[in-house]
Amino acid sequence: MEEDYKIPTHVGIILDGNGRWAKKRNLPRSAGHKEGFENLKSLSKYVFERGVKYLSVFAFSTENFKRSEEEVSFLMNLFVKGFKGIIKGCNENNIKVVFSGRKEPLKDEVYEAMNELADSTKNNTGGVLNICLNYGGQAEIVDATKKIVKDVLEGKIDVDELNEKDMYHYMYQDLPPMDLMIRTSGEVRISNFMLYEMAYAEMYFPETYFPDFNQEEFDIALDVFNKRDRRFGGIKNK
Ligand code: FPP
Repeated sequence: MEEDYKIPTHVGIILDGNGRWAKKRNLPRSAGHKEGFENLKSLSKYVFERGVKYLSVFAFSTENFKRSEEEVSFLMNLFVKGFKGIIKGCNENNIKVVFSGRKEPLKDEVYEAMNELADSTKNNTGGVLNICLNYGGQAEIVDATKKIVKDVLEGKIDVDELNEKDMYHYMYQDLPPMDLMIRTSGEVRISNFMLYEMAYAEMYFPETYFPDFNQEEFDIALDVFNKRDRRFGGIKNK
């Protein structure tokens, strides 16, 4: 591999296209979600093996509660079973799992499974998997603002000193800025995913449905990232 090949520190993925993957095969949408989850397990392992330190995935938005009761309850059950099922694998691979999102209106059993997974993996150091569940990017900024106002009122911080970097500490998880954002399935939208963290991320929108977004596809995403010229608002390097 080339010496100056760049590996992004923080990758975000909007896991899209599970339903269409299933439809194409005349399967119920639930089969697409199941396959998406299986894919996430192998893909995340590979992403960390490639040297990525933080992987954020959009598993369930606050807006996703508007889907049919059948689909929402299938997904919640998948999360409960899935989170219990991956504890061992995360520990074997030294992966720490954290969650971003609001608690309400998640059912207790979902919230407990999330806490169990986060707690059982909290000392791992090989990579951080941030699962955005019942998450909204604008809600994250609102919730961060509330925490800031409290800290200001309690005299913990001086509001005039607050800067862009400090804001990260007030987000759901204190993660570094996102370097590469991938949305599968050909949709070209951000859909309220990690708005603050994504400010300077390179964007990549492959046509592939998420259950088919495998290791080779991720390698292509890394190649695309390497061809981009990141300037962060500065002048092009010649
Ligand atoms: C997008 O496909 C996927 C979701 C809304 C949700 C769930 C994601 C998984 C089951 C995989 C990850 C699992 C865990 C435990 C983190 P879509 O339903 O929007 O597909 P469509 O746009 O083709 O209908």
